[in-house]
Amino acid sequence: MKRLLLLLFIPVVITSCQCSEQPSESITPESSFTEQDAMTEGAKISGQSQSVLAGVLQQKIQESGFEHAVNFCNVNARALADSLSLEYNATVRRTSFRVRNSENTPDSLDRVMLAKFEYAFENDEKPVQSVIQDEQGNYRYYNPILIAPVCLNCHGMPGEELSADLHALILEKYPEDDAVEYELGDLRGAWVVEFAIAVNDIQ
Ligand code: HEC
Repeated sequence: MKRLLLLLFIPVVITSCQCSEQPSESITPESSFTEQDAMTEGAKISGQSQSVLAGVLQQKIQESGFEHAVNFCNVNARALADSLSLEYNATVRRTSFRVRNSENTPDSLDRVMLAKFEYAFENDEKPVQSVIQDEQGNYRYYNPILIAPVCLNCHGMPGEELSADLHALILEKYPEDDAVEYELGDLRGAWVVEFAIAVNDIQ
């Protein structure tokens, strides 16, 4: 009888141990951050950054033309200070195989994802947003960037959509510029949202 009671008792102990080892207070918001969250939040953050950027570009072009707007096709602080990015300790940036600003040069993981997007693009498939983990276990969200009509003014064929004057101005600022000769609909690069949450640390 004693033994039976003991046997009956064991599962209770095991279950209660599991519970008490992980009290709900010890689960930080980050620990429940899943790959799906990275996808959802990454899409929101990159989408918002894209809108901010497009809005600023449009405004500067209207105010004083493409020459002036050239200084504004970068991910500015306003997008970064966005509350979503802060909440998830996220950073947002853009990258490409052909960069204008060398600070946007892809790292090895970026290259893997850009190659994946390029492969899809070249096979007439739509490159789609993806999430992967870096070596530290942090999630990274990638969203492809395609060339729209307005982009050609600064990233199109020099001497054609991209005027010779504007091209000269761009080269003054970015002597190593490799981000020209794009055509409408081309794959330009990717938005990258990095979540500084080492999921491997959370067990
Ligand atoms: C007024 C000129 C102008 C327009 C219009 C413009 N860009 Fe840019 N673009 C630039 C400049 C200048 C940079 C370098 C920004 C920096 O220093 O980070 C840049 C950088 C980029 C980058 C980062 C990678 C790199 O090459 O350094 C991407 C991606 C990009 N542009 C995509 C686009 C897309 C997509 C559009 C259209 C929606 C667009 N741009 C419209 C001037 C422009």
